[in-house]
Amino acid sequence: MSDPAVSPVNEPALAARPHIVLVGLMGSGKTTVGKKLARLVGRHFVDADVELEARTGRSVADWFAESEDAFRQAEAELLAALLTEPAPLVIGAGGGVVIRPETRARLSGDGVAVVYLHGEPAFLASRAQAKPHRPLLADADPVEVFDRLYAERDGWYREVADAVVEVRPAHEAGEKPKWRLAEQVAEALVALGAVDASLVVGADAVRP
Ligand code: S3P
Repeated sequence: MSDPAVSPVNEPALAARPHIVLVGLMGSGKTTVGKKLARLVGRHFVDADVELEARTGRSVADWFAESEDAFRQAEAELLAALLTEPAPLVIGAGGGVVIRPETRARLSGDGVAVVYLHGEPAFLASRAQAKPHRPLLADADPVEVFDRLYAERDGWYREVADAVVEVRPAHEAGEKPKWRLAEQVAEALVALGAVDASLVVGADAVRP
């Protein structure tokens, strides 16, 4: 692929219309880029945290208040359920979705195309906002949190990823970085055979 910000990692034969899952640390753009990508490829977008709250009737903060492990279990079950949906989705996963080995196995399996939105921890720490669904950022030094999470997870994200897209260059390249990233992800998915090129619309056609 010509774009240096996009690198295919694994190139197995992907199923014809796999679910698309965006992974990466908080603040990498999984939700905002995922929504735009869904418009480019004509699919529904599901944000895993929002869906978890809707399906369980409990906020992410409440799950964490019970225990982080309870949240991780619910998160893993939700992803497993989403991946059985018959219509292929664009899914913005929670940042910690790769923690559990069984979920990494699911993400590495057939029927799923995974794109890792990669950013250096200091860059993401400067961007990610503390929000109610992010208890890991509450009362914490974001730089320390991101350094720790990056050290733990970068290898896991790469293990499950079919392609890695760098987020920082798009932010430094000028206007509408999230649309630029969505287009790069769509291109990577076409290159992987996960999305039919004829089904991808240009951002100009759908961008407000
Ligand atoms: C988490 C990331 C959050 C949310 C929860 C835990 C993490 O999702 O699932 O606070 O462990 O990185 P986003 O990455 O969508 O913010």
